[in-house]
Amino acid sequence: MDARNGIGGSLSGLDLRAEIERLRKERNAVILAHYYQKPELQDLADFVGDSLDLSRKAAETNADVIAFCGVRFMAETAKILSPDKIVVLPDMDAGCSLEDSCPPDQFAAFRAQHPDHIALTYINCSTEVKALSDIIVTSSSAEKILAQIPADQKIIFGPDRNLGGYLQRKTGRELLLWPGVCIVHEAFSETELLKLKAEHPGAPIAAHPECPAYILDHADYVGSTKGILDFSKTMPGDTLIVATEPHIIHQMQKAMPEKNFIGAPGADGNCNCNICPYMALNTMEKLYLALRDLSPKIEIEEGLRVRAKKSLDRMLELAGATVGQGDLGPVPA
Ligand code: 13P
Ligand code: SF4
Repeated sequence: MDARNGIGGSLSGLDLRAEIERLRKERNAVILAHYYQKPELQDLADFVGDSLDLSRKAAETNADVIAFCGVRFMAETAKILSPDKIVVLPDMDAGCSLEDSCPPDQFAAFRAQHPDHIALTYINCSTEVKALSDIIVTSSSAEKILAQIPADQKIIFGPDRNLGGYLQRKTGRELLLWPGVCIVHEAFSETELLKLKAEHPGAPIAAHPECPAYILDHADYVGSTKGILDFSKTMPGDTLIVATEPHIIHQMQKAMPEKNFIGAPGADGNCNCNICPYMALNTMEKLYLALRDLSPKIEIEEGLRVRAKKSLDRMLELAGATVGQGDLGPVPA
């Protein structure tokens, strides 16, 4: 039986946690995890973070191997920034709906139709789209980077129309938006959110800017996953409504077991539709196999990598050392 397909058979009896620990040392590996990963993966990671902090860690680490518990564009970003390291992703099918919504050939054609615009692009995109872009942003760095672009410079923003729309409303800056969305953040229901808010009138709402405007309009705080986590530590009261992928609540509960964190609902009031199906593909078993076999490995053609690195380097330069707190804040009323 193939170990990858027959996990229940060939891996049963293994102490996966101990085996991952052993391989982490033997391989001189660092395990990076995003806040949307399963709690057991977050708990064994060397570092858990949002996209910007994970990029920085990937660029800085001395490890020989980066095992990336996240989605493919995040692991590709690590490889672009650390080409001499082996980067493994437990499941190569861990994609992203935003990446899928922006095929490189269509993005290139769109850029060609607007030669007087620069492309400011959300990190949730393919390496090819990064190579076609001028500056990459994350949700925690977007506003700071946008503020450094001269006011008369025309800008294409892709692929997330919700983050782009939020930035337009927040800064008053006009952006030419690519029409991509995150299927997870699109699944929240305004009607159900308002019902939940009525049950907990004192609870603030924290939302990720990938949510549509009809959700963000009700938020007391808007920011990256790291920003939402920071907000949960300083918010007034002891109950928070969280409008992003619910696995982030694991970190909140660990840090503040006495507080109450409630995931914002989907259309049926109680669905699992806001669990990211791509992030969910990574498991302990697949992480173990990735460390054991050094596969699936991220490979990027060198010319493409160098072109994509330029726009990522611009992000790291312009984001500076002080962002990463994810503090975009609410849209002024
Ligand atoms: P963050 O940079 O806020 O962690 O966002 C990553 C992401 O994919 C959100 O859906
Ligand atoms: Fe992509 Fe949405 Fe999943 Fe984030 S939550 S990785 S944007 S599909």
